[in-house]
Amino acid sequence: MLNFVPMSGNNVSHETGLPIKPVVGIRRLKEPMIAPLKTRIFTVANQKGGVGKTTTAVNLAAALSMGGLKVLVIDLDPQGNASTAFGIDRIINEGVYEVLINDLPMANVVQKVANFPHLEIIAANSDLAGAEIQLVPTVAREFRLQSALQTFLLAKQNAGQRFDYVFIDCPPSLGLLTINALTAADEVLVPIQCEYYSLEGLSLLIETLTEVQKRLNPKIILSTIVLTMFDSRTRLANDVAENVKKHFPQQLINIPIPRAVRVSEAPSYGQTVMTYDASSPGAIAYMSVAREIANRGGMPINLRNETA
Ligand SMILES: Nc1ncnc2c1ncn2[C@@H]1O[C@H](COP(=O)(O)OP(=O)(O)OP(=O)(O)O)[C@@H](O)[C@H]1O
Ligand SMILES: [Mg+2]
Repeated sequence: MLNFVPMSGNNVSHETGLPIKPVVGIRRLKEPMIAPLKTRIFTVANQKGGVGKTTTAVNLAAALSMGGLKVLVIDLDPQGNASTAFGIDRIINEGVYEVLINDLPMANVVQKVANFPHLEIIAANSDLAGAEIQLVPTVAREFRLQSALQTFLLAKQNAGQRFDYVFIDCPPSLGLLTINALTAADEVLVPIQCEYYSLEGLSLLIETLTEVQKRLNPKIILSTIVLTMFDSRTRLANDVAENVKKHFPQQLINIPIPRAVRVSEAPSYGQTVMTYDASSPGAIAYMSVAREIANRGGMPINLRNETA
């Protein structure tokens, strides 16, 4: 397996060589977001590559955290893009691989995301690429993430530090890592880029989800669809959006995320767009989507046992 050797100091991204800009203060929203009655565990999945899974997972997590909620991100993609987006070096840290393969408790590998008071991450590392194959002969191979996550969440809850949201970022495949994520979650969030083959990909994902529902996790539902990299000027994007709305009126969040340069720039600086440029159109859209997700499944924040 390839091991990347860091070539530069701590304040330079190993991915891009660009300097990691320090985050200057995280805005706490004046109007906090509504906390859910119980922890909502989302798997962000779409086997199609490059549709905005990671971007959506990290920005929603950041936005909900800025809304005062306690959020955990699990980077289940060997590419480690979610870890990088939070400025975390996925190469040297122990992470989700050790949890899945070596039974290391999540509590041992969870890290705080710098500057966010309520945001934590279980990072990916390059070993994770081998996990897909290493998992095959293991006992209860589809349940390894679920059991580690439940143990971790319960311990946190008992310590008065309940997480409100968990986002699991999946690789672009429907292999054992994604199956582990679907088995561990209550809800699936599917980012859809409005292109010609988008809906075909969605039917395959739904078939997999139905199988997981039948055999591994009866409570999993496709609860949320987010349109990503949306270009309202193209007819195709509008047509696909209409189609999604027609077939998934309950699931679709009717706030498309625009294609926006600041969104794509942010990860090079080890940041989400929520901190990189909070007033840019992409950040505003992700913030609105986060609020809509919170509104759909929550209760007033002051009713929550706020001891964290
Ligand atoms: N709204 C947006 N505007 C502009 N660029 C975007 C936007 N959303 C995502 N991108 C860019 O598109 C690329 C793919 O996004 P992302 O990595 O989130 O997709 P993904 O589905 O997680 O990919 P993979 O399947 O490889 O994990 C990235 O370079 C990202 O910065
Ligand atoms: Mg990704």
